[in-house]
Amino acid sequence: MSSLTATETRVVVLQDYGSLCEHVAERISDVVRVKPDAVLGLATGASPIGVYRELVRRYQEGRLDFSRVTCFNLDEYYPMYPNSVHSYRQFMKRNLFDHINCRHWHIPDGQRSNPAGLENGCAQYEKAIRDAGGIELQLLGIGRTGHMGFNEPGSLLSSRTRVVTLDEVTRRDAAPGFGGLSAVPAEAITMGIGTILEARQLVMIASGVSKADVVRRMMTGAISDRLPASFIREHYNSIVCLDVDAAANLNSEYQP
Ligand code: GLP
Repeated sequence: MSSLTATETRVVVLQDYGSLCEHVAERISDVVRVKPDAVLGLATGASPIGVYRELVRRYQEGRLDFSRVTCFNLDEYYPMYPNSVHSYRQFMKRNLFDHINCRHWHIPDGQRSNPAGLENGCAQYEKAIRDAGGIELQLLGIGRTGHMGFNEPGSLLSSRTRVVTLDEVTRRDAAPGFGGLSAVPAEAITMGIGTILEARQLVMIASGVSKADVVRRMMTGAISDRLPASFIREHYNSIVCLDVDAAANLNSEYQP
């Protein structure tokens, strides 16, 4: 494992996906051990699945207790029924919440609503995070467009929870899970960049060679809304955790 400072953001490179997930799960476990009523921000996508598996294992072994933890997820497709197999709500139940003792978890409501109802739902999500005391640790993935959450290129540093239009690349990446591109919603509800950056600690996970190019651009290019994940480098306490393949296009100093 290597660990270096790049701007404000630390980059940690692990040998493989298994060690990467263990490393990230350990960071989350540390937060919960120190603060049993911590507020966690969670993510979906393939990348964090191994992290959730590791957290479930630790819970089942009696090493972690989530009974006082509160969780907020980054995003949800829109429109999306909460019981749909494609919803992030069901994803989180399958991969984490059905297997641990966390009772307080929140995911943006993707049910169809009129514009006023939608706007109100987004404002309420922000308020619920604030009322819970703010997020201690936010777990993040990165999409090939450079999105975090569903903040696609053009998302501003000041953006808050809102409805966004998904990029074609993002929809194409999601298509296999939906059984075809036409079934992928055109929109989503996502925490904004401003919302994400208010978390006290950001932990990004990326794995596999398909992420190597976007990871390089995120860490070495301009910090800009053209690649919203680059805003992670504006955060005072952020870390990017990669496996060797995702780190492949970074300088050799980042290799383990
Ligand atoms: C989706 C999620 C993002 C996630 C991204 C990457 O677009 N909304 O939060 O980071 O997928 O997913 P994966 O980890 O499957 O590459």
